[in-house]
Formats: sequence, C-alpha cells, structure tokens
Amino acid sequence: MVFNRGPFRIGAMLAACVAGALTLVGAPAAQAETLRVCADPDNMPFSSNTGDERGIYIEIAEKVGEKLSMPVEYVWWLTYKTRRALRNTVLQNDCDAVFALPAGKGWGMRGLIRTDAFLHYSYALIAPKDMKVEKLSDLKSKRIGVQFQTNPHVLLSTQEGYDYNTMLTADELLEALHEGAVDVAFLWGPVAGYELSRRADMGRWRVIPLAGPEVEGSVAAALRSDHEALRERINGALAELAPEIEAIGRKYGLPSGEPLRIDDWALPYGPRGAAGKAGSTGQGSEAGPASGQAPVAVAEADTKKVAAQAAEAKPQVDETAMIDSGKVKFNDVCSHCHGANGFSPVRIRDLRRLKSRYNDDWPNVARTTIMEGRNEYGMPSWRGTLSEPQIDEILAFLKTIQK
Ligand code: HEC
Repeated sequence: MVFNRGPFRIGAMLAACVAGALTLVGAPAAQAETLRVCADPDNMPFSSNTGDERGIYIEIAEKVGEKLSMPVEYVWWLTYKTRRALRNTVLQNDCDAVFALPAGKGWGMRGLIRTDAFLHYSYALIAPKDMKVEKLSDLKSKRIGVQFQTNPHVLLSTQEGYDYNTMLTADELLEALHEGAVDVAFLWGPVAGYELSRRADMGRWRVIPLAGPEVEGSVAAALRSDHEALRERINGALAELAPEIEAIGRKYGLPSGEPLRIDDWALPYGPRGAAGKAGSTGQGSEAGPASGQAPVAVAEADTKKVAAQAAEAKPQVDETAMIDSGKVKFNDVCSHCHGANGFSPVRIRDLRRLKSRYNDDWPNVARTTIMEGRNEYGMPSWRGTLSEPQIDEILAFLKTIQK
C-alpha cells in the first residue's frame, strides 16, 4: 500500500483484497483436532484452491498441521473487504486461523490475536540484470513504473527528480516493463518475484527487495482471542518450521538478497497518511514512524523552496513565518490524508491543484472546506479544532504549493 492508512498494510496483499464480495464456500463443521484455516481461493502466490500450486500460506498451513498432527481443512474466503470478511469467518468460529494478516502493531482487530510473525515481505524493484542500482538516485535517469497508491508511489510523489508513471495493476506494470515502456518498476515483492519467475523473459530481470520505513513488514496467522492455547501450539510449530518456511518462500520467488535501502525516502512527517492506506492492505506498513534523519533533508529542501517562492513574491518577514508555521501545522494534522506537503497522488486530495481547480476563488473554497468539512467524502470539519489564525497560516502555506 501507498501507504494508505495502514501502511504496510499488508498492504498490498491485504490491500489487494479490497473489493468484491465475501464468498464463503462450504465452511466445514467444527471438529475437534482439525485445523480449520481461512484462506483466499484466488490470491497467488499466497493461496489458491485450484491448480498444482497451492501457494505460500497453504503450504505453510499444511506443514503446521503436520507438525501438530491436525489435518487441515480450508474455508475459502475472498479476502476482499478484509475486516468484514474476518467478522464473518474467524470471529464467527467458521475457521480457527487465518493465514495471514499483518504482524505489526499497526494492525489489529478486536477479538483477534496473532501468532509470531513467520514471513517478512517488502516492496521490490524490478530492474534489468545489467543495470547498476546501488542507491536510489541511480534511478534518476530512468523511466520508473509504479503501482497507483502503493507506498512507493506515495514516496515517489514526495521526491524531486524522478520520472515515473503510475499504473493500476501489477499486470500493466509487468507489461510496461516487457514492452520497454519503463526501465524499472516498483512492485510488491512477493508478486514481483512470483510473476517474473513465471514469465518467459524472466532472464532479463532481477528483483531487488527494498528496505526502509514504509516498504517492509511481516505477516502472522490470526486466531480468535479465546484460542490462546492453539496459538501457542502454532507458534511452536512455526518456530520449528523456520527452514521449511524459508524454502517455501524461495519456491514462490520471494525476493531475497541484498536489499536496496530507501531510508532517505521516509515521509517527512511519518507514515500516517499515505502509508496508512497502503497499510490497510497489509503491505508494508508496520514499519513505524519515519526515521528522524532522512526527513530532515526533505524538510530543508522544501523550506528552501518555499523561502525562494516567498522571496519572489516579496513577502513581509512575518508572512514567511506564517508560511512555515502553516506548513508545520499542515504536515501535523492534514498530511496523512493529503500527502506530505499536500502532494497527494490521489487527484482530488492533491492540494497543489486548488488554484487550477477553483481559480481565484480557491482560498474561499479551501477555507469553507476546512471549516465545514465534506463529511460525506471523508474530509473532516476543523471548526473548533483549528483557530482562524491557524487556518490563515495553513492557507498561506497552501498558496506556496499551487501549480
Ligand atoms: C481524514 C482525512 C482528511 C484529513 C485529516 C484532511 N482532509 Fe482535506 N480532504 C479529505 C478528502 C477525502 C477530501 C476530498 C473531498 C472530496 O472528494 O470532495 C478533502 C478535501 C480537502 C480540500 C478541498 C480540495 C478540493 O480540491 O476541493 C481542502 C482544501 C482540504 N481538504 C484541506 C485540508 C486541510 C487543510 C486539512 C488539515 C487541517 C485536511 N484537509 C485534513 C480528507 C482529509
């Protein structure tokens, strides 16, 4: 996930699951000593109920069942609308365990407990084998493909100097690579590794895992909170199975090897915004707040830019102070929905477009929207939360980012 609210959300995985109806096919009756596992019937490389390949989670669940001498039964369940699906399955005791949900603190649901994390995932960069990629800035001269609203998209949108194209699906991205429309692509690591290992031109590419806040996370199995004892047994099995689990990951092409670190791409004010969303899906966002350092560079660069723009307009000294203070306030309370500095990849939330959208009336529209909110669309009202002078400061800052 861009990091939607839930950053790492399994982000993508889970994230991938947002849409569509919940389908329960033949939930088996509860039986003593059977391990009933809820899994998605069509979510490779994670799980599938057809074909020879069962997917990473199914193979792991089978191994766990073997270890515990519990035959595994499956309740196939499309992971769309994850929370609703969980309420209708594991929380209703239709199955004992769900493989898998985000392991980190950033995710949780009342009534569920989780095992220890058993797999680590990250976003990855797909690059030609012969391309030198040692640091992110090596990509500045490249055409980059990125999936809409995933964390790498949000991160890219906060950086200067990268030439990127957004695409909606992993398939489009892989197609663009194949046709040479982009040179490299950011994709959820498990999907990248799995898809490439199954495509004919795979020999040309390598998949480099990413490391850093916002782009990695891990998953755990989830159980009903009254299944503590079973959780402990599963934990024991998972620990013993570590080498087998690693081998299963390799079999499905999970990216491994030296990661490309992108710490310096941390969002200036933490992962809440963009990351959060992506997170909702589970890909990635456990990672916690952005580290303090890299963000400083970003903030400094931005401050210079704002200062330069302000100088152009010959503002008075206290206007500059107002802008700075509005920017800090904005990034404190608005950026998790509108992106750091208002640069959201989601068009309607991109506050750089206010002027082009509403012409000279934009400050009025913005002020009214901030005061009244647009509740039906998810924009809260700030009346009573922000004072008039604080809103003035935010507007002064927003003025500096208009296109
Ligand atoms: C919980 C998420 C959220 C937060 C927090 C939030 N916004 Fe919004 N905001 C939205 C959404 C969603 C929209 C788009 C509403 C729509 O579709 O018309 C929006 C719209 C706007 C618009 C109008 C954009 C346009 O082009 O019409 C402005 C201006 C705005 N927000 C400013 C702010 C400011 C300033 C803050 C912080 C004080 C803030 N928002 C905090 C979600 C949020």
